[in-house]
Amino acid sequence: MAIGVFDSGIGGLSVHHALVDRLRGADFVFLADQANMPYGGRSGEEIVALTRAGCERLFAEGCDLVILACNTAAAIALRRLQQTWLPGYRRELGRPVNVLGLIVPTIEAATGLPWAHESAPRYDGEKAEKLDILGVFSTPATAGSRVYEIEIDKRKPDVAVFSEGCPELARMIEAGADEAELAATVRGHVKALSLRIGRPPDRAVLGCTHYEIIADLFRAALPAATPLIHQPGATADAIERYLERHKEYDPGSSGLRRFLTTGQPGQQNGLVEAFWGGPLHFEAA
Ligand code: DGL
Repeated sequence: MAIGVFDSGIGGLSVHHALVDRLRGADFVFLADQANMPYGGRSGEEIVALTRAGCERLFAEGCDLVILACNTAAAIALRRLQQTWLPGYRRELGRPVNVLGLIVPTIEAATGLPWAHESAPRYDGEKAEKLDILGVFSTPATAGSRVYEIEIDKRKPDVAVFSEGCPELARMIEAGADEAELAATVRGHVKALSLRIGRPPDRAVLGCTHYEIIADLFRAALPAATPLIHQPGATADAIERYLERHKEYDPGSSGLRRFLTTGQPGQQNGLVEAFWGGPLHFEAA
């Protein structure tokens, strides 16, 4: 059995990298739905259907647990799949399987609170003084879902979330765009967000897994004092704890690493291979 990691493209490798680092002996199958990437400009129904197909493919490969290493899929499709599809699918498969995301661990890292925490009720008219401004860079679909705004406000109303949808960035990273072009795009989004807030954010989340591959460019565009909250580490911590609590999911123990794509099999671009630290060979899904 194995752990499946799913993204629309190569961005999920940032989360996969942290998971592999943490669970070295476990077996991993990574699936990139590059034939349908980017998800960030698609409708909710399309994102749900594509995410479900990706999960089915990974379960068919023998995975017990699938991690959605994609904010867009997690924001739009995860709850729906967990509630309406997984219970019947588990019965059909006759074994325990589950799908988990990366937004819960990111919000726990951003708030410093466990997911189960709820803030004390506020009374009408009572205004929380919002001093801690969190900037979230993401795809337009994730920004439109307002998942970070809604879930953080429920737990820590003194954190004000401002999302910046970046329509072109994941596709540029996927295509291996040159660094100067990527840096100019990132600077443009940091500037747009800072203008909207009236100052730079106090902290920032790279809320699209593709952006971790160019985290250095975000680091350079943001003020040095603005900490970045990194999803891959937060997600790996959460999955490690989850597997300790849920022995019914077998992560495997032979150190298998497979990479599948619905797009063009073969090597990936230099940008992601440099991030990964070596060549990456993808098989046709
Ligand atoms: N990497 C994905 C995310 O975290 C999305 C990229 C896309 O638009 O397909 O949101």
